[in-house]
Amino acid sequence: MPGAFVERYGPWALVAGASEGLGEAFVRGLAARGLHVLALARREAPLVALANELSAKHGVEVRPVVQDLAAPDLGQRVEAITAELEVGLLVHNAAFANIGRFLERPLESLLMTLDVGCRAPVLLSRVLAEPMASRGRGGIVLMSSLAGTQGSAYLATYAATKAFNLVLAEGLWDELGERGVDVLACRAGATRTPGFEATSGRYQGAVMEPSAVVEDALTKLGRGPGTIPGVKNKLSAFALSHFLSRRAAARIMGKTTRKIYED
Ligand SMILES: NC(=O)c1ccc[n+]([C@@H]2O[C@H](COP(=O)([O-])OP(=O)(O)OC[C@H]3O[C@@H](n4cnc5c(N)ncnc54)[C@H](OP(=O)(O)O)[C@@H]3O)[C@@H](O)[C@H]2O)c1
Repeated sequence: MPGAFVERYGPWALVAGASEGLGEAFVRGLAARGLHVLALARREAPLVALANELSAKHGVEVRPVVQDLAAPDLGQRVEAITAELEVGLLVHNAAFANIGRFLERPLESLLMTLDVGCRAPVLLSRVLAEPMASRGRGGIVLMSSLAGTQGSAYLATYAATKAFNLVLAEGLWDELGERGVDVLACRAGATRTPGFEATSGRYQGAVMEPSAVVEDALTKLGRGPGTIPGVKNKLSAFALSHFLSRRAAARIMGKTTRKIYED
């Protein structure tokens, strides 16, 4: 029920990585549920277009926030952006996949994968969960991935950030749950986003639509520490983690990622 969702997670949500793909779909899903949304990313034009469309359609305020999540002063900036607002829901969606052979990726860009994928979710959760816990209500969704189930050649650093988000969310689910804050890791599989389509040329498996992933995550929030959207994704996660050794799982994933990404 939209009313109950707004009471539990409103009136404002912050979506980090909101200008396209899954982040855009989160903004759409939350505005449709009646939340005002701070839509944060680096590119202003898509955020403004999304804000105009959804404000007119749902009568909520969608506010574009142009911000780099790798900024050294991200904490102070987020405090300033949210100072006057009651933010009841955080979605950390942004990631930097940084695909390619580990030894060919510049060190700075690998560290940026950590900044966007690990530092930013810890920082945003730390800043925004405190007022949520004081109010005794709120929610945090961290985007993990099936890629975080085991190591993957050509995606090693990115996959590690996805494992980080899974484990971070599980710990916070238990700890912040005692204070009324629901936390969820969304372990998505392949999803039809611009980022995925630009890099998945030879991928042949099942692909979900962003809106279906978002609906699953928003429905599962408050029901447990994690979700794997889609039956095929659930089965493949189960098979990889129950029937294979970690060594075998990493080798199988490596074969797949080499096929997709090797030039
Ligand atoms: N697509 C899939 O198949 C798939 C599968 C499993 C999990 N996931 C996870 O789902 C999430 C979204 O994936 P996606 O494919 O939609 O897109 P993505 O390429 O991972 O993220 C794109 C969004 O993040 C923003 N972003 C990237 N770097 C940023 C930065 N430094 N500061 C601020 N914003 C930044 C981008 O906006 P700007 O460029 O405008 O900044 C864009 O809005 C990710 O966490 C990903 O790991 C995706």
